[in-house]
Amino acid sequence: MRRAEGARRDQNTDIPVAHRINPIRRFSSKRLGQLAISSVFISISATVFLFYFIYKPSLIEKAALNDANSIRKESLLGHYPYPEVSADELVMLYPGFKVHKDTLVALKRMQADAYQDGVELVFLSGFRSIDLQREIFYENKSIRNQIAVERSKVSAPPGYSEHSTGYAVDIGDRNMRETDFEVSFELTPAFKWLEKNAAKYHFVLSFPKGNVQKISYEPWHWRYEGTVKALKQFEPANRSVINHSR
Ligand code: DAL
Ligand code: ZN
Repeated sequence: MRRAEGARRDQNTDIPVAHRINPIRRFSSKRLGQLAISSVFISISATVFLFYFIYKPSLIEKAALNDANSIRKESLLGHYPYPEVSADELVMLYPGFKVHKDTLVALKRMQADAYQDGVELVFLSGFRSIDLQREIFYENKSIRNQIAVERSKVSAPPGYSEHSTGYAVDIGDRNMRETDFEVSFELTPAFKWLEKNAAKYHFVLSFPKGNVQKISYEPWHWRYEGTVKALKQFEPANRSVINHSR
């Protein structure tokens, strides 16, 4: 036994120093297993990351664009199709005046803040059912002896009005009622206040002067875009503005 140890020591002293202090390290099978598990884990994490943060958002963006494009193709006389909001999503602002429930707080706050600034906003029209829009469109068209192309400049065909979503409101100035639904509304303190402040409450002018939908200028008609649901409904309209300005 002692001779064997002596022999090993002798052998060791025969090995050049550089070789003795740098023995080749071999991985144990346990260590190899850990490495394999770690690399599988890293690969899965990288795949999940790529899918959820890079690939999926681009798919969603593509799908949203396709949706918006196909809805745009379904436009009628410049108006986009809008479904009628379900009754349980409507709330009463005044008797006979309903709006989408998501707009209620913003509308009240906007009216109260305008009042603080000495401006009195009056709400003229909110939700309109598709049936009511049909009456407005066709009856007035007939009374005024208009063809559809003319009528659609100032009124949306049934199924194509932002009012049917519950998100659109027509606004007037309580002290200048003669300007209700008139282009001269743009000269009122109410309009000037809205122009400056409406975006704070997530309202946007739907049909500004020279709008890309080629609808008549309606300084009184504002729509709410304060939720993703509302934004999705107005995506075709917004997308046409974005594309136009590119
Ligand atoms: N006056 C707007 C265009 C509507 O009827 O919805
Ligand atoms: Zn309107």
